[in-house]
Amino acid sequence: MSIGGGRTKTLLLIFFLLSCLCDKSHGQYFNDESAIQNVTYSYDDYYLRGSLMIKSFPNNMNAYIYYATHDGVWNMTGTMMAAHWKMQNPENTYGNWSFEGPISPYGISKFYVYLQLVESGVTYTDDNDSQYYEVPNGGPRSTANCDGYDVVGTTVAKGVTKLSLALNGAGCALYSPDVKYLTVSIVPYSKDMVRIKIADTANNRWQIPASIVPEGSTEGTITTKSYTVSYTTSPFTFKVSRPSGEVLFDTGVSGLPSLIFEEEYLEISSALPANANIYGLGDMADTFRRSPDTTLQTFWALDRGTKRLNNAYGSHPVYFELRNGKVHGVFLRNSNGMDVALVSGKITYRVIGGVLDYYVFTGPTPAAALDQYTSLIGKPAFVPLWSLGFHQCRWGQTWTTTAGIKATIESLKEIGMYVDTVWADIDHMDAYKAFTLGSGFAGWNDYVATLHEEHMHHVPILDPGIPPVDNYSPYQDGVSSDIFLKWPNGTEFLGEVWPGTTAFPDWFHPQANGWWTKQITEFHGINAFDGLWIDMNEAANFLIPPGYEPAYHINNDGAWEMRGLNYRTISTNVTHYSGATEYDAHNLYGHYEAIHTRSALSSLNPGKRTFILTRSSYPGTGHYAQKWNGDNAATWEDLYLSIPQIMSNQLFGIPMVGSDICGFGGDSSEELCNRWAQLGAFYPFSRHHRAENSHDTFFFVWETVTESALKAYKIRYTLLPYIYGLMQEASKTGNAVARPLWWDNAKDTKTYDIDTQFTLGNGLLVTPVLTPGATTVTGYFPDGIWYDWYTGKAASTSAGYKTLDANLTHINVHVKGGVIMPAQYPAKTTYETVRNNYFLIVALDKYGQSTGSLYVDDGESVDAQYSQVKFGLGGNTLAIGTGWNKYRITPKLDTVKVLGYSSRSAPRRVYVNGRRVSGAQVELSQKVLTITGLAIDLNSKSVLQWK
Ligand code: NOJ
Repeated sequence: MSIGGGRTKTLLLIFFLLSCLCDKSHGQYFNDESAIQNVTYSYDDYYLRGSLMIKSFPNNMNAYIYYATHDGVWNMTGTMMAAHWKMQNPENTYGNWSFEGPISPYGISKFYVYLQLVESGVTYTDDNDSQYYEVPNGGPRSTANCDGYDVVGTTVAKGVTKLSLALNGAGCALYSPDVKYLTVSIVPYSKDMVRIKIADTANNRWQIPASIVPEGSTEGTITTKSYTVSYTTSPFTFKVSRPSGEVLFDTGVSGLPSLIFEEEYLEISSALPANANIYGLGDMADTFRRSPDTTLQTFWALDRGTKRLNNAYGSHPVYFELRNGKVHGVFLRNSNGMDVALVSGKITYRVIGGVLDYYVFTGPTPAAALDQYTSLIGKPAFVPLWSLGFHQCRWGQTWTTTAGIKATIESLKEIGMYVDTVWADIDHMDAYKAFTLGSGFAGWNDYVATLHEEHMHHVPILDPGIPPVDNYSPYQDGVSSDIFLKWPNGTEFLGEVWPGTTAFPDWFHPQANGWWTKQITEFHGINAFDGLWIDMNEAANFLIPPGYEPAYHINNDGAWEMRGLNYRTISTNVTHYSGATEYDAHNLYGHYEAIHTRSALSSLNPGKRTFILTRSSYPGTGHYAQKWNGDNAATWEDLYLSIPQIMSNQLFGIPMVGSDICGFGGDSSEELCNRWAQLGAFYPFSRHHRAENSHDTFFFVWETVTESALKAYKIRYTLLPYIYGLMQEASKTGNAVARPLWWDNAKDTKTYDIDTQFTLGNGLLVTPVLTPGATTVTGYFPDGIWYDWYTGKAASTSAGYKTLDANLTHINVHVKGGVIMPAQYPAKTTYETVRNNYFLIVALDKYGQSTGSLYVDDGESVDAQYSQVKFGLGGNTLAIGTGWNKYRITPKLDTVKVLGYSSRSAPRRVYVNGRRVSGAQVELSQKVLTITGLAIDLNSKSVLQWK
């Protein structure tokens, strides 16, 4: 098979019957003859395909066939890289199977077929029948003639070094013609970030417009820098180092091409330390720390639910490397499809278009690195306070009518659940047409008005696909504004989404913003929503349109399927208004929609923050929108994966992120949903959502789930001021909200692999149960004192693992010594909660000290007036200082709880600003000192003391 005219090598070998030396322990299955017979295969640049026959086996078993591609780099005994199919034998007879799988970018030197039989949950592997097959000519295309480029000219002006490069020799034209002349610009972006851009000198290749993804200044004279850039001239390679000489990025990798820059294929590699600690490179579902030896990450926005090793909805070509306690990062500002491979000491980028526009930032702390990255792509949007409450959503079943949704919300209230936001999936629409309300949603806007009276909120879904039907103004308006995407011949590009045939808006069109804003504004007139959920924006299309495929075939849809670029999306042949092709701009579709949606909501509610939940994303999307991780499944695996997904999105500049609680697809057990309710209460974005045709898992369905949800969400709502403060900080500095344990312990190498726990801010450690049947959980406690949330007792006083009780309705949560957390008495909505009095949780460190702060504003305004109160405790004195006080704080501080209080006796007198507080009550129990009966005004400085 040949795709897109690439060079095709085909090899066909017929294999011999395998001799049988059956494993006696499982010999009952494959006694006297080989289990695998008649293996044939062929391959080209992209796929290995073949067929084989499997001997019969009993009906109650499944046969699994795996194959792995190897290249001498991937270890035979290591992770299988390429493919994995599960096949059922339908007829309990001889099975003829065909197989097909992608070839890794490193080519294929051998593959491996073996049989695995599973019976009653026990796996039997038939090693003796399993067989390696050599593929003698299956290496990657030869790079022997890829001699890179030489530097032929240099200029330095306004702090920018420009190098002229010329192709060496005739080039290698590996997948497309070489570009002969390149210009390298080395631009100091800031003292901690440098941009190295390699572009065609003729300047006629696709580059992302700065209006869609910022690029910073193109000049810059910066005197003190935390990096140095050096380069070699023949061939050209570049290196970014710290002033100490430590090399962060180095494209001179021995044995690999220095630089390939072809019309449709760019390749560049950098050396990495052995066993490097690399995080990021997403959207994906994987361990948080990426395997340094077997990662092949593809970047092509795809409507694909949670699947390991797959590309997913968003595209974030950025990584953070943690090395000896220091962090630096590398962002490739390129929107084209690409594969990025991490293989034994190197990272290789294989990109099918655009230019190589690198930003290297030096950290060295994790927070500094993220601050630097988000100073380029845009700081995360500050979310409205209400969005930090619990969100209830559902697709299908009882959620197809106003009455059904109302009934669910009433049931949640009856169990005492905290609920802030009621969502509506596509069922709210008339025939799934965006901006309409269907007949099942009669009285919906009245219900939304009732929700508002109860200080609750509403978010409906909004898909970009617009059906070309009569009497439907979103379509007719779009046609008159000419904003729908078109084929090169000018006819409208049509795909298929929920409403059937649909056109797709061209976000590049100058009229798109006005059209979108008008539709959103008019829809708001019939459905007074508070935020929008922009789904299906990769853009998803249920059809596979024809379209251009380049010779280098990225691993779209991962190791599982490998699809072309046009798989279930907009055709790569479609050209946007500015001339940008979908081939180049595909990964920006959802990001650009988020930009327009934010602008529409801002004009609808001037001065108010927006809440926009997007599925697709690109670097910078967090500046406009929030995100969820798409279609996960009700499995323990996906429960776990939600943690690395949420932590990875922090690195992508999208701190407000969550996964569907209790799983979107498939049926959840009570136990799984119970553990998910506990964990989900600590997601930055906390939403319960279910797929159509899955059974209900609302928190009232099972008693244990109810108990767990009430317990865990009580903590969330209690800590609302703390979490809100983290979100505010994120919007200023980009800092992570849901953090890996290394974030605040970067020197502790034991934390580098941990992705089953996380902290919210630096103060709250969450250790969820992620396995069935568990009654305990083992978690890591970084150095310092960690206090149990529930008892206030010190659970850990030095770094190490601890096994903790975790009965079914208990989630372990610990508070870090040294941190003061502002808290409020929880009510059932965020609105009511922030009107209740404050209390402080003061967790003492080993010096008996603790600090913290409280951020307060109106919860919804952009650039709101705010107050920031600082707290510091030492000895018997808590100093309360107003760092900034422009917003009047009405609730009072009525209680202070000190964890780790070491004096044996409780103090007897309490003073505020030197005056005794007669109504104050003091209690000391198990080293927890609780002082109640205070009424401290947080609008001015004060000092609380006890004696
Ligand atoms: C796909 C989304 O990922 C899912 O959350 C939603 O329920 C369905 N589309 C239906 O709108």
